[in-house]
Amino acid sequence: MANYILYCRAGFEKDLAGEIQAVAAEKQIFGYCKLNANQGFVEFNATEHEPGLLFKQIKLDSLIFCRQWFRVLEVLNDLAEGDRITPIVEALQGETFSDLTIDYPDTNEGKEVTKFAKKFHLPLSKALEKKRILQRNAKRTLHLFIQSSDTITLGVSVKSNASPHHLGIHRLRFPKDAPSRSTLKLEEAFLHFVPADERETRLMPGMNAVDLGACPGGWTYQLVKLGMFVAAIDNGTMNEDLMETGQVKHFMEDGFVYRPKKQNVYWLVCDMVEKPTKVARLMANWLARGDCQEAIFNLKLPMKQRYQSVQDSFAVIRDILADYDIRYTLQGKHLYHDREEITVHLRTIARY
Ligand SMILES: C[S@@+](CC[C@H](N)C(=O)[O-])C[C@H]1O[C@@H](n2cnc3c(N)ncnc32)[C@H](O)[C@@H]1O
Repeated sequence: MANYILYCRAGFEKDLAGEIQAVAAEKQIFGYCKLNANQGFVEFNATEHEPGLLFKQIKLDSLIFCRQWFRVLEVLNDLAEGDRITPIVEALQGETFSDLTIDYPDTNEGKEVTKFAKKFHLPLSKALEKKRILQRNAKRTLHLFIQSSDTITLGVSVKSNASPHHLGIHRLRFPKDAPSRSTLKLEEAFLHFVPADERETRLMPGMNAVDLGACPGGWTYQLVKLGMFVAAIDNGTMNEDLMETGQVKHFMEDGFVYRPKKQNVYWLVCDMVEKPTKVARLMANWLARGDCQEAIFNLKLPMKQRYQSVQDSFAVIRDILADYDIRYTLQGKHLYHDREEITVHLRTIARY
C-alpha cells in the first residue's frame, strides 16, 4: 500500500479523485481516495507492490486536475511548537533528496502557513544538509506538507515527473496594458504546452492566428505580443490599442461558422462560452481540415461530472480525427488561471 497526496484547485477534489482512480486503474494500480470538499488536495491510497510505481506508470502532465503530487513517507502528528526540526530529521534518516519544498493546500487556511513556511525553510534545510539528507546530486524532492500547525506530512516526488513550480502553481504577473485578466490563461497555456526549446519555432513572429470569441482581446493580446497576425472573431468590441497595432483584423461573425479563406493559419485559440462537446467538435474539425496546426481552447465545465464531461469532449475529438490520416496530440490541464474550465491543447504532428 502506498499513499499519495495530489494537489488541485479547491472545489475540484472529486474530479481529481475520479481521474486518478480511473487513470491508475488503466495501469493496473488500484486504490481509493480520501478527500474533503474544498480542501485543495486528495489522498490516494494505492495497492502498489513497488512503492512509487504510480510515478513510473503515469506522467503528471497526463493528469488534468492534478497540479502537483508526492508519495507519503511519514505523517508526524502532535509536533511540539519548540522543536519541529529534530523529529523531521529523525524520520528521514537514510533518505536523500536534492531539494526541499514546504507545501500547504491552496486554500485560505493553507495561506496562513505561508509565513511559517518561509521562515522554516532555511533552518530545516541546514539541518538536513548537515545530516546529508539534502544532497545536490539526488533526483528527488522532499515535500513537507503542512495541514495544521501540529501535523506535518513528509513526502517525496521525482523531479522528472513533478511540477517545477511551488505547489504546482505557475504564478504570472498581469500585464497592465492587457484588456482582460483572462490574458493570463493563454500566457500560462503557452508556457505549459509549448516546451521552452520549441517556442522559437512554434510561437513565431509573423505567424497567422485566429481567436474565436476574442473580445475584449486578452488572448489576442498574447498573440500580438508574440508578433503574430490575428483574425479576432466576435460580435463584441475589441480593445482599441490592440486594433492600432495593425496586427489584428476584427470580424463580427459567428465563431462556429467562420473559416479562414487560406490554409495559412498556425494557431487557433478559442474562449467561447459554449457546451464543451460543441467546442470540441469545432476544434477537431479545424484540425481535420488543415485549417490550423495547433489549437488551444477552453472547455467550460459544468459544476457536476466535470471529469466525465472532459472525457466526453475528448471522445468527440478522437472520433472525428479517427477518420483522418493525422497524427496528433491531445492534452488538457486545469491551469492555475482557469476556474470552472480547463484548457486543452490539440496539435497536428503529421499528416499522411
Ligand atoms: C470569455 S469571453 C472571451 C474573453 C477573451 N478570451 C479575452 O481574453 O478577452 C467569451 C467571448 O466569446 C464571444 N462569443 C460567444 N459565442 C460566440 C460565437 N458563437 N461567435 C463569436 N463569439 C462568441 C462572446 O461575445 C465573448 O466576447
